[in-house]
Amino acid sequence: MACRWTNDLTQADVTPESLWLNRRQVIGGALGAGALGSIVSPAMAEALKPTSWDDITSYNNYYEFGTGKEDPAANAHTLNTSGWAIEVDGMVDAPGRYSVATLTEGLTKEERIYRFRCVEAWSMVVPWNGFELKDILDKVGVQSGAKYVAFETAFRPDQMPGVRYGVLDWPYREGLRLDEAMNPLTLMATGIYGKSIPNQNGAPIRLVVPWKYGFKSIKSIVRITLTDKEPPSSWNTSNAREYGFYSNVNPTVDHPRWSQALERKIGGGLFNPRKPTLMFNGYEDEVASLYDGMDLEKFF
Ligand code: MTE
Repeated sequence: MACRWTNDLTQADVTPESLWLNRRQVIGGALGAGALGSIVSPAMAEALKPTSWDDITSYNNYYEFGTGKEDPAANAHTLNTSGWAIEVDGMVDAPGRYSVATLTEGLTKEERIYRFRCVEAWSMVVPWNGFELKDILDKVGVQSGAKYVAFETAFRPDQMPGVRYGVLDWPYREGLRLDEAMNPLTLMATGIYGKSIPNQNGAPIRLVVPWKYGFKSIKSIVRITLTDKEPPSSWNTSNAREYGFYSNVNPTVDHPRWSQALERKIGGGLFNPRKPTLMFNGYEDEVASLYDGMDLEKFF
């Protein structure tokens, strides 16, 4: 399968970091992306430079391991990801309990760089590897009539110290409309920087929806359900005024408690001014048509 690079990836190729640099340059050269070097400004290249491994893996949100940004890195080692299985059910031709290996068998691992944005107005640029969610859904056979995909994270009180607290409605749940799920940008990630995804980032498999706020990207998935009804999501259930079902990155719709018009890149160094947030996190060309005719203030 040919790689479907995003604009971000090609531009980020100009100034990637450390080891990633060498690997990417080989592939970038093969794609003819090297020519872009001359038209991408140093500022743009800097904005799309991948965040360091240390920042990506030490500043996290994973409430099952605590609500502090440093809690997941400190606590998530207790999650046992061996023998992981994902239950696929609902409106599919081949429901069942799949190992990650079975579900992803025969799929090509794709490497992509996405800007990943949090609702609290911070962002990271993460080189993910994984598979299109679409590839997995095609494999299990989505039945006609299915309109949404629901996801569930593992709920393991003995391994997840944070689920003792009722900060969210457990298990962590998320959902996408079927066309969002089938979009080629929507990734099931199994790695970062070509290495296995660390527990604090959602091992062994998590969703990445690059045009939505980070909380849609549910970690450590154990269930995928095809349904004809809009599924509940943990953040929406716990605070519907602040978190809607769609959660598209949209600088013109404020979170009730803060503006989302600007963002600051994590690990951006000493000179790190806030930058304007881009509509759909910069993926407007690819995804705006999914929402044609929708009032995005109402469906936030
Ligand atoms: N998935 C689960 N199961 N639990 C969580 O608390 N937090 C979400 C999302 N997925 C979360 C989750 C939020 S709020 C964000 S911003 C991203 O994960 C953070 O991903 P990262 O830690 O890999 O940057």
